[in-house]
Amino acid sequence: MTRKHLIAGNWKMNETIPEAVVLAQEISNGADPATLDVVDVAVCPPFVDLKPVKTVFEFDKVNVALGAQNVYWEPKGAFTGEISIPMIKEIGCTYCIIGHSERRNLFGETNEGVNLKARALIEAGIVPIICVGESLSVRDEGVYLDFVTSQVRAAYAGIDAEDAVRTVVAYEPVWAIGTGRTATPEQAEEVCAAIRATLWDLFGEETAESMRVLYGGSMNEGNAALLLAEADIDGGLIGGAALKASSFLEIVKAAK
Ligand code: G3P
Repeated sequence: MTRKHLIAGNWKMNETIPEAVVLAQEISNGADPATLDVVDVAVCPPFVDLKPVKTVFEFDKVNVALGAQNVYWEPKGAFTGEISIPMIKEIGCTYCIIGHSERRNLFGETNEGVNLKARALIEAGIVPIICVGESLSVRDEGVYLDFVTSQVRAAYAGIDAEDAVRTVVAYEPVWAIGTGRTATPEQAEEVCAAIRATLWDLFGEETAESMRVLYGGSMNEGNAALLLAEADIDGGLIGGAALKASSFLEIVKAAK
């Protein structure tokens, strides 16, 4: 099955509002409208940049979607420092990254929390990009397939096929994030195929074959084409290379 590729830029904790506007404008100026018709593209800036970046793309009428990097599952209340789903929906987010390894490892995000966020985002009509991925020690122990597929099963607990089809999974081996040590296409495909097999088991063939599985972890303009050529890799979640418009747009082009 051919699935439309999705390239999402995770800007992480980078770009003040003026810097974000410049980067968004560079992406807008360099984007090929014909490419944006055949590749889904999104940028996920820090919360404070969401509205300014959205304004750039709306003013230029550029088909680049907006995503948040995290969210809380309650709609409102005494949750100091958190951002709600109604807040990111009102700004115009189409996507929301959840379960990123940096949030799991640095801020204690759990499989259970990821599941609650996924269910709340689906309910709100926002597409969760559910991040899974193993550490180097788990890979070296040879149990990475079990580890990653158990993360997938936990993320989708209580979610049915009709809802799951409106979600995205991103495989991001922790040892490849920010390291320049990109997984080989074979390594990435092995895990993405195992994720697809798990989705088959959970939701059946039609749904699993319709869902998109992204790869993230030092994807750049030099290696994107080979990774994206793999059968079970339907796009990329881009960190460092997303902060340079020319690199990000080359990755988008490779996704055609
Ligand atoms: O969410 C994407 C990010 O974790 C990948 O970062 O810098 O390895 O592309 P990077």
